[in-house]
Parts: sequence; C-alpha cells; structure tokens
Amino acid sequence: MNSQRQRDKAEAQRREQLLQRSLVGRKVRLRCVEANDLPLRVQWVNSPVIQRTLNFQYPLSLAKMQKWLDTVITDNTRRDFSIVTTDANAVYIGFGGFLNIDHGPRKAELYVAIGNSSYWGKGGYGIDAYRVLMRYGFLELGLNRIYGYQLTFNSSARRVVEMLGWQTEGTLRQDIFAHGELRDRAVVSILREEWVDPDVLPSADAMPPD
Ligand SMILES: CC(C)(COP(=O)(O)OP(=O)(O)OC[C@H]1O[C@@H](n2cnc3c(N)ncnc32)[C@H](O)[C@@H]1OP(=O)(O)O)[C@@H](O)C(=O)NCCC(=O)NCCS
Repeated sequence: MNSQRQRDKAEAQRREQLLQRSLVGRKVRLRCVEANDLPLRVQWVNSPVIQRTLNFQYPLSLAKMQKWLDTVITDNTRRDFSIVTTDANAVYIGFGGFLNIDHGPRKAELYVAIGNSSYWGKGGYGIDAYRVLMRYGFLELGLNRIYGYQLTFNSSARRVVEMLGWQTEGTLRQDIFAHGELRDRAVVSILREEWVDPDVLPSADAMPPD
C-alpha cells in the first residue's frame, strides 16, 4: 500500500516535471495569458509589419481583446499562451498557442507571433517558441498532427518550420483577402512520428513500468 502510494507520488512528480519542462525552452517559456498582457498583444496585432503575416481581424480594440480572453479561457478547443524570455528580465515578447484542437484525430493548428520585432532574427526566439509549443502539443495534448497556415511570402516562418522538420503539404490558392489583395497560403504540418526534439529524452513520455 505504502509502496503504491510512493509510486503514485513519484508518478505525480514526474508528470509535474514533464509539464514544467514542456513549457520551458532554451530562450523562451510559455505562460497563460493574463489581462495585463492584452495592451501589448493589441499593439502587436495592429502593427502593420506583424499584421501582414497573420490572418487576424484588424484593427483590433483593447475592449474586443478583453472579450476574446473572457471567451477563450474556457474554450477547450484551444490553448493560448504569452511568450516570455527565459533570462532574468523575463521580457514578454509575443504570443502563440493551438487552435482547433480535435481529440478525435488528435490534431491542432499551431500559431506563433514574436510581436516585439526587435527579437526577430536574434538567435532563435521564434524557433524556440515553436519547439516549446510542439513539445507541449505532442506530450501534453497528446497530438499526432500539428499543422499551420503560412502566407507564401512569409519566408521567416517557412524557414523556421523547415528547420524543425515540418512538411509543406500544398498551397491554398487565393485563400484569404487582406490588405486589398487575395493571398495564397501554404499548409504545413508535422506528425508525432517525425518529431525530433534534442531536449526531450526518448523515455519522457514512455517510461517503462517498474
Ligand atoms: C516567424 C518568426 C516566428 C520567426 O522568429 P525569429 O525569432 O525571427 O526567428 P529565429 O531567430 O528563431 O530564426 C530561426 C532560424 O530561421 C532562420 N531565419 C529566420 N528568418 C529567416 C529568413 N527570412 N530567411 C532565412 N532564414 C531565416 C534564422 O536565421 C535561424 O536560423 P539559424 O539558427 O541557422 O540562424 C517571427 O519572425 C515572427 O513572429 N514573425 C511575425 C509573425 C509570423 O510570421 N508568425 C508566423 C505566422 S505563420
């Protein structure tokens, strides 16, 4: 009985550590979105340089973003995070998460935006955010397929997913209308069996029974 209790406790600790690890990367960590995060999030979404890479409504008001947060915090088909740096300053630099989580085929759409553009191309904040989200998606949400949509001109986003082993599945031609023109989007994805993460031990989600 005692040893069963110890095993349960060890398993609970292991799961807690796994969860913590799954949200922390080398350059960034994810945390839940708090009301204080919303003004910057609105500023980023409305910034033309970010806006042109996303498929979000614009312009966006703070009031609408506050309503958005009220709705999404109880929506089990999505997980939304704020992205902060792992250094001592813990700078809030962007946002990301999963949409359309579907537990049947175990798939979800991943999104990432490093909103503070002074962190772009500065040694891997964006790619680390993708890595942390993929880890969370595969290990915590139990996903088998993670996919995304990328405007075809977005070479930074394309390069990042290529480096992470994602495949391009095809192009959705003239799929969205934004900034006065129809735009093509690429569908990109990675499957659980294709996922390689040097920071995750092979045994992390498959511990043998003792
Ligand atoms: C796309 C985005 C997440 C990339 O983040 P980032 O922090 O700028 O990129 P990183 O520093 O992590 O770059 C990772 C790698 O990609 C390479 N890379 C990034 N942009 C590149 C580009 N335009 N051309 C070639 N390589 C590029 C980097 O050189 C780096 O490779 P390295 O480690 O060999 O040097 C970020 O630019 C962003 O949030 N943009 C706005 C929103 C957006 O486009 N989101 C994706 C929507 S689908």
